[in-house]
Amino acid sequence: MLKIYDDLVNKKANLSVIGLGYVGMPLAVAFAKHLNVIGYDLNSAKIDLYKSGIDPTKEVGDDAIKNTTIQFTTNPEDLRKAKFHIIAVPTPINQDKTPDFKPIIGSSTILGQNLTKGSVVVYESTVYPGVTEDICIPILEKESGLKCGVDFKIGYSPERINPGDKLHRLENIKKIVSGMDKDTLEAIASVYELVIKAGVHKASSIKVAEAAKVAENSQRDINIAFMNELAMAFDKMGIDTNEVVDAMNTKWNALGFRPGLVGGHCIGVDPYYFVYEAEKLGYHSQIILSGRQVNDGMGSFVADAIIKQLVLAGKVVKNAKIAILGITFKENCPDVRNSKVVDIIKRLHEYGIDPLVVDPWADAAEVEREYKIRLNTMGEIKELDCIVLAVAHKEFAELGLDKINTFFREMPNGEKVIIDIKNLCNIEELHTKGYRFWRL
Ligand SMILES: NC(=O)c1ccc[n+]([C@@H]2O[C@H](COP(=O)([O-])OP(=O)(O)OC[C@H]3O[C@@H](n4cnc5c(N)ncnc54)[C@H](O)[C@@H]3O)[C@@H](O)[C@H]2O)c1
Repeated sequence: MLKIYDDLVNKKANLSVIGLGYVGMPLAVAFAKHLNVIGYDLNSAKIDLYKSGIDPTKEVGDDAIKNTTIQFTTNPEDLRKAKFHIIAVPTPINQDKTPDFKPIIGSSTILGQNLTKGSVVVYESTVYPGVTEDICIPILEKESGLKCGVDFKIGYSPERINPGDKLHRLENIKKIVSGMDKDTLEAIASVYELVIKAGVHKASSIKVAEAAKVAENSQRDINIAFMNELAMAFDKMGIDTNEVVDAMNTKWNALGFRPGLVGGHCIGVDPYYFVYEAEKLGYHSQIILSGRQVNDGMGSFVADAIIKQLVLAGKVVKNAKIAILGITFKENCPDVRNSKVVDIIKRLHEYGIDPLVVDPWADAAEVEREYKIRLNTMGEIKELDCIVLAVAHKEFAELGLDKINTFFREMPNGEKVIIDIKNLCNIEELHTKGYRFWRL
């Protein structure tokens, strides 16, 4: 096995994490409990926050950042001090749904310029099979003047963490690792085993590891798309999808998926990486792309359901007073990237409705910058015609119907409309208390 592992644990060599976001930061914090870690990010505002002990991702918490020994830096030359590098930069898509490789190319260029002989480089960013070897290695070689396989080694280890999930954490999720040769694989596996208590799965090649990640996320996307398709059909049939799913889930081999908004930068994005590469090779995706189409249309579907319920409740749609609770792409997480709640809001705007939007997790400045949407406070929610429970943050899940009722305007003979996208309300209570409600 390469001697990098011994050098790291004996603190003769340092480990660097490049890209300190939802993925990179928890990794860096975990490794820093065992090794000397350099944490590099080109976003100086983020590095300043980390240096002052603030965790904007809320993944590890401020205390962990305050107490970590990570050496935070925006200076690429600091990467020369490390021999084991982990790259965890974003892999978004362009407007036309093709992969946007700018961060992967940018980070590989920066690392290449500061790569030293004897290093190991592991990519964690989600990509399609072939990116590590066909795109990243050539950049590292060109920028460093070093030869991959001789002067430095390469590997790939997809990240599976689930931000906001307090149960499935970095340490207890089995990690797929791969390397360009047996020695590299063994070295990478033992480094990750320092922090991954659940252990590692050694993939037979880098491409297998890359493929496993896009495949597992595409599988999830398709399963949710199937439930969304059922939800749209059942809506026309006047059947409650959740009741159907509850019944279905009593079977031993039921998959347990529910309909929902698929946002964020993973499930709603990674399938496009896979489709892009398959298309280049002449395979035209059918199932994956249709699943994407279904899931991308759910914001409009929900918005149209809101309008229908308002009309049926006898409200004047234009300027109806609506509050939307939650704008992040998932619960208990501040991440607003590619949030499908934004699609709902945009569609409501088309009907002349400007909803109040409340989210205690989201960063108001980021929401304003990214979406031109001003966040409101809970105190501003009053005199409503309709409330939309869009994200299951714990603050919203704990509200209860009595509290929700206080947000509505007095309407002695009118119907109060509740749109419960996340299935937060008790359906019997909704029935007995006479609300007009709709859920996905
Ligand atoms: N967040 C998740 O739930 C999750 C889960 C599994 C896998 N992933 C994958 O992991 C990768 C990272 O995702 P993330 O959510 O941590 O993204 P993120 O945006 O939270 O963090 C990425 C960080 O990389 C930095 N960065 C961008 N370009 C850089 C460069 N050239 N050099 C150095 N730093 C650079 C950014 O400033 C940012 O801080 C993506 O490929 C994503 O698909 C994410």
